[in-house]
Amino acid sequence: MPFDIQHHAALGSTNDVAEALAVEGCRHGTVVWADQQTAGHGRHGRPWHSPPGNLLFSVVLRPAVPASRAAELGFLSAVVVADYVAGLMPGDGGVELKWPNDVLLKGAKVAGLLPAAQCTGETLAWAVLGIGLNIAHFPSGTPYPATSLNAHGVAITPEQGLHAILDRFTYWLSRWEHEGFDIVRTAWLARARGLGREVTVGHGTGQLRGVFLGLEADGAMRLDIDGAERRITAGDVAFGTAGPGATSAGQA
Ligand code: BTN
Repeated sequence: MPFDIQHHAALGSTNDVAEALAVEGCRHGTVVWADQQTAGHGRHGRPWHSPPGNLLFSVVLRPAVPASRAAELGFLSAVVVADYVAGLMPGDGGVELKWPNDVLLKGAKVAGLLPAAQCTGETLAWAVLGIGLNIAHFPSGTPYPATSLNAHGVAITPEQGLHAILDRFTYWLSRWEHEGFDIVRTAWLARARGLGREVTVGHGTGQLRGVFLGLEADGAMRLDIDGAERRITAGDVAFGTAGPGATSAGQA
C-alpha cells in the first residue's frame, strides 16, 4: 500500500494535523510524522511525552467499511505495533497488549495508540490512527510503569520504526479487509495481558472488578462480574488488586 509521508521537525500533535487533513479530503494512506510534538496527547486528552528520538505519527485511512467497524482499527494498530516490537526482542518475548490499545514491554508501557474516526451516515468516512512509540525516552512520574526500546537494549531510529510499522500496516489491513475482525481479535487476544484473570476497570469516578473474558466483535471488553457478564466500552484497566490509578494527571 503506498503511503504519502509528510515529515515535520515539530508539530503540536500529529493526530490534530492528520484529522484536519482527513476533513479536507486527503487520501487513504496519508501519514503525518513529527520528530517532536509540543501538544501530543493520548486517550482522555492526557499529555503524551513527545521528545525527539521517539516515534510520533498518525495515519489517515479510508477503508470502505460500515461506521460500526471503526473501533476495530484501534485493535489492528495495537497488533501492528506489538508485532513490530516483539520482532525486535530476543525470542519475541515480553510484549503484551493492555485493553484497549496500549503496548507493554516486560510489563511497562512502550507505546500508545490514539484512534479517531468520522462517519458519514452508516459509512466510515475516515479513521486516523495515532501512534507513539517510546524509542529513546520514556516519561517518569506516570501512574503506570513506562519504558522505551533503548532501555531494553534495542537501538533503532524513528525512521526505521516508521517504515517497518507501515509495512506491517499494509499486511494487517489487507488481512482485516479480506478476513474480517476475527483475525485481528485472535492476534490481539494472543498477547492480551490479564486474559482469564481478575482485573479492575476504572471509569469516571467508579471502578469495576471482574474476570477479563475476552473481546466482543466490536472490541468491547467482556468482564465477568460475580457471574454476570458486562460489556465495557471505556475505562482504564489495572491488573491484580491495585486500582487503575490512571485517573490522575499524567500520560494516558
Ligand atoms: C495513549 O496511550 O493514550 C495514546 C497515546 C497516543 C500518542 C500518539 S503520538 C502521535 C499521535 N499524536 C498525538 O497527539 N497522539 C498520538
